Amino acid sequence: MTLTDSVAIITGAASGIGRACARRFLEEGAVVLACDIDGAGLEKLSAVGGQGRLHTAVCDVTKRADAEASVEQALSLGGRLDCLVNSAGITPRTLPPEADFEERWDAVMAVNAKGVFLMSHAALAVMRPAGRGSIVNLVSVMSMVGYPTSLPFSDGFTAYPHSKGAVAQMTREMGVRFGVDGVRINAVAPGFVYSPLTENVVGDPEVHAEMRRLHPMGRMGEPEEIAAVVAFLASDEASFVTASVWPVDGGYTAQ
Ligand SMILES: NC(=O)c1ccc[n+]([C@@H]2O[C@H](COP(=O)([O-])OP(=O)(O)OC[C@H]3O[C@@H](n4cnc5c(N)ncnc54)[C@H](O)[C@@H]3O)[C@@H](O)[C@H]2O)c1
Repeated sequence: MTLTDSVAIITGAASGIGRACARRFLEEGAVVLACDIDGAGLEKLSAVGGQGRLHTAVCDVTKRADAEASVEQALSLGGRLDCLVNSAGITPRTLPPEADFEERWDAVMAVNAKGVFLMSHAALAVMRPAGRGSIVNLVSVMSMVGYPTSLPFSDGFTAYPHSKGAVAQMTREMGVRFGVDGVRINAVAPGFVYSPLTENVVGDPEVHAEMRRLHPMGRMGEPEEIAAVVAFLASDEASFVTASVWPVDGGYTAQ
């Protein structure tokens, strides 16, 4: 893997898949700017180590000024930005129960879709003139298929699959457009993964069993299994891979 001395921004790095990506990138020798809206979570991240290569920024990806400030901070670490991993994300379950359907849709689209757009826009302003860079977006199997009706996650109006579909298409559109500038843009589409995002739903034994059953491998994924593919796509090992969406889903979408 060729991430040594790369400067990488990872959003949503205080938890779950983003946190596993931060750890993996540090293991691969990258300089990491871990961004998250959760400052307390970022403080705990220091436990992953990194020998002085881990830096943090409290950043709300829905705010353009925060996105641009994160890129500025990354540049201050070594005068370059090699990778952006967009892992910050929420589901409607993250919101208070009193939020109505329109508030839920707006909030999920703001983080999951607009956040990726703003972070990518800020990063591309640096990567394109540099003639190199790599962006990896965390989408989901729900960017390709709807929630199965055997799960109680959607009434058809749920923004989560809508937002992930938007980012899969952002990945293709930006990847096609900016390949000529030397910037590769890809997405990873995980199946269900154990993290705080799924913690509530796996607490119900029947729902948990069904979530496992939906994967031909008969189980859910671990954040580290997603981070491994993110690190590969971000690195020069994937030098001819762009504008693509990679299922990392135990076979979920092949059925
Ligand atoms: N866990 C799964 O089953 C699963 C499956 C497919 C895709 N994904 C996607 O992977 C990504 C990571 O998911 P996870 O399971 O690690 O979730 P998680 O809840 O463990 O972590 C998400 C992180 O995003 C941060 N965040 C939320 N809003 C933010 C904002 N406005 N600005 C900056 N940071 C913000 C949270 O504070 C949190 O640290 C998400 O985009 C999610 O949709 C997860």
